[in-house]
Amino acid sequence: MASRSGGAVRPGGTSAAVNKNFQFKLVLLGESAVGKSSLVLRFVKGQFHEFQESTIGAAFQSKTISLGDVTIKLDIWDTAGQERYHSLAPMYYRGAQAAIVVYDITSTETFARAKNWVKELYKQANPNMVIALTGNKADMGDKRAVEHQEGQEYAEENGLLFMETSAKTGLNVNDIFMAIANKLPKNDPQAGAGQAGRGRTGVDLHDSNPQNRSRCCSALVVGGGGRS
Ligand code: GTP
Ligand code: MG
Repeated sequence: MASRSGGAVRPGGTSAAVNKNFQFKLVLLGESAVGKSSLVLRFVKGQFHEFQESTIGAAFQSKTISLGDVTIKLDIWDTAGQERYHSLAPMYYRGAQAAIVVYDITSTETFARAKNWVKELYKQANPNMVIALTGNKADMGDKRAVEHQEGQEYAEENGLLFMETSAKTGLNVNDIFMAIANKLPKNDPQAGAGQAGRGRTGVDLHDSNPQNRSRCCSALVVGGGGRS
């Protein structure tokens, strides 16, 4: 559920909540080394590390963006792609309103893995989740193994946003996050008020959906580590 705060005027002049500030939880999923952390680093800090360390558990970043007169704080959970961390993933995607599933355009295995993540999200995540599929490392076109059209067709068939990105050059990185932000609901009558900016990472306690309320939000955040 989105959090929001602000004030609005109802017809007749009564003041009520106007929704100008929102907070959403976004999770990145995908095989190890596809560039999830690099995409976050590019989006949040405008940087790229040629030797980005493999993530252990998950890492958290947040970024506030403006869409017209609306402010959106994205709480970004960058999960670890190594198989041994797979069982932790539900802790991060449950309660998330958006996901970016990443593959590497130079590897068909990572594309297959991305499809499995999409299936898992459809089975187990928030049914209204905004999901984007991203074919990363678009700068490595000479080693391309997954055609743009393959990614696009799969995304269309499954109702996903789709872009090819490069964390290295910055291609489409802001665009994919902005496309998600645009698609996130900003008028959900069930959303709780006044939560934005508190650094909340999990379930909205004001959430009137009992299914969501029961979902827990304890999260493991640890630093980066060596790739194995
Ligand atoms: P895990 O944390 O293990 O799940 O991996 P990850 O998906 O977070 O990948 P990470 O961001 O650590 O990137 C893996 C490697 O790919 C690093 O050496 C990056 O520098 C490189 N890389 C990431 N994105 C790109 C890109 O768009 N282009 C190129 N050429 N290299 C990239
Ligand atoms: Mg990582």
